[in-house]
Amino acid sequence: MSTPSILILPGDGIGPEVMAEVRKIIGWLETNRDLKFDVSEDLVGGAAYDAHGVPLHDDTMARAQDVDAVLLGAVGGPKYDDLDFSVKPERGLLRLRKEMDLFANLRPAQCFDALADFSSLKTEIVAGLDIMIVRELTSGVYFGEPRGIFEEGNERVGINTQRYTESEIDRIARAAFELARKRSGKVCSMEKANVMESGILWREVTQRVHDADYPEIELSHMYADNGAMQLVRAPKQFDVILTDNLFGDILSDCAAMLTGSLGMLPSASLGAPMANGRPKALYEPVHGSAPDIAGEGKANPIACILSFAMALRYSFDQGEEASRIEQAIETVLASGARTGDLLGAEGGSAMSTSEMGDAIAAALTDSL
Ligand code: IPM
Ligand code: MG
Repeated sequence: MSTPSILILPGDGIGPEVMAEVRKIIGWLETNRDLKFDVSEDLVGGAAYDAHGVPLHDDTMARAQDVDAVLLGAVGGPKYDDLDFSVKPERGLLRLRKEMDLFANLRPAQCFDALADFSSLKTEIVAGLDIMIVRELTSGVYFGEPRGIFEEGNERVGINTQRYTESEIDRIARAAFELARKRSGKVCSMEKANVMESGILWREVTQRVHDADYPEIELSHMYADNGAMQLVRAPKQFDVILTDNLFGDILSDCAAMLTGSLGMLPSASLGAPMANGRPKALYEPVHGSAPDIAGEGKANPIACILSFAMALRYSFDQGEEASRIEQAIETVLASGARTGDLLGAEGGSAMSTSEMGDAIAAALTDSL
């Protein structure tokens, strides 16, 4: 196979800082593991807006379609709050997801042992937690038509449309069942079939795909509001959670916080296989651009490094190297290394973004 190509889009806020640490890890693999990557870089979000007046240039879109994997840092910031909706930084990310047809968003929420005490929930509720949220990413209320703000009589009305076709539900359900096969064989699907027709269809199609092709998987259905409650009450009852775009957005932030810090969680957004067999793919941390700490070297690079580990696993068939990176992070955290976001009420001294990257690279070297 040709050298794997990666397009890095650091984006805004802490994006460039955390991405610099990913570059460090890529460099480590090239030096120590005999792997080669063809890495290029471009702009997205506010950074692209500043340079081109749009949050994603057409050339960048074309390059993203062409590479084996896109790694994205974060987009957005207060500087761009007053921009027209159509050129807001987030539109760049949404365009990438939509045009690459990245319908399957995998958001693992894993609680590292060293951080179990750090969660806002009791340690025993979250210790050992390892769940995977499979969020539909290219449809639903994020993209449904009609949408807009319209005049109606003497006032305006804001409209968004929740819309799912059977085939959209079918393919995301399959993605969840396939993943469940490699995990504990359990899927809980969440919607609001009690109030929404799209939820009724979601439940029906999910069950149908299950009965036809994945009968060995244990499938349950739950209303999404109950799901949110169960996530904080007893999260370990779940393994794979399958849900739509908007509920997935909310539930994954909730699940993320169970693990102690948003700064720890990676994600993969996958589409259909390309000609070379690799899926269309974009990897990004779940956290945002954190403008309040941008440029200060305080950001936690772990979520972004773990996102690259997901790229190794899902795009480059390098599961062993992905596990090596995850293990190195586990080791570094166990040794007490902490960026500021991981310091609890007891305080302690925080290491910088690049010190954390160095520590992970050193743990990788120790693992050889
Ligand atoms: C996420 C984010 C995005 C979303 C925003 C930045 C558009 O919250 O990836 O979870 O709502 O999908
Ligand atoms: Mg979100």
